[in-house]
Amino acid sequence: MRVLIVKDEQEGGRIAFDQIKGAMATGQLNVLGLATGGTPCTLYENIRNSNLDFSNTISVNLDEYVGLGAEDPQSYHYFMQEQLFNVKPFKKSYIPDGKKGEEACAEYNQILKEHPIDLQILGLGQNGHIGFNEPGTPFTTPTHKVQLTKSTIEANKRFFDCVEDVPTEAYSMGIDSIMQAKSIILLAYGEKKADAVAKMIQGEITEDLPASILQKHPDVTIIIDEAAAKDL
Ligand code: GLP
Repeated sequence: MRVLIVKDEQEGGRIAFDQIKGAMATGQLNVLGLATGGTPCTLYENIRNSNLDFSNTISVNLDEYVGLGAEDPQSYHYFMQEQLFNVKPFKKSYIPDGKKGEEACAEYNQILKEHPIDLQILGLGQNGHIGFNEPGTPFTTPTHKVQLTKSTIEANKRFFDCVEDVPTEAYSMGIDSIMQAKSIILLAYGEKKADAVAKMIQGEITEDLPASILQKHPDVTIIIDEAAAKDL
């Protein structure tokens, strides 16, 4: 793991952007894995303001809430449109279909098989989740339906009118698929992430802290601000 401690999320977004730009320049970045949440927003702002061209690149997103369609302003489809795709269209963008039944998972696994991820962007849940792989998820799990934990619902309610509106289930790319990405950049900012960051980097590798599996990945860059690094 390469750990980069930055001043704030502005600097983190710039550094992550530079890494994507460098990977694009090699011509080897064909499939880019994207994340939602507040954390990648400064990265997406850098991409929006750049002259990078993704018209030959495929994107795959980590997850989607069950029950929310692309037109729903709270869906991750909508978030990605607003944050990135309206300004930077990709050749093709895949996100699990929250409107479908559980066959959405098998379909997504097939998509990932056909489009192996070259670089995956990750955020980090306060409980150490990546994608929506909550603590206790087996490391071998492919795309699956997730029952969101109370703490994740609580953490994500800021994007909804009230906590009752937060979906309780999601479809998420599994840890196995995330680990198959050739390289990974994980971003985490703020004191609320400090405990999960320390356990992810220095703790034991355990399914109780899903991000700890990243210690085993050969090419991971962790970009954190000083507040998120405080327990290291
Ligand atoms: C959600 C997403 C994750 C994200 C996490 C952290 O649960 N499914 O992909 O990493 O939240 O969110 P934030 O970046 O808003 O702190």
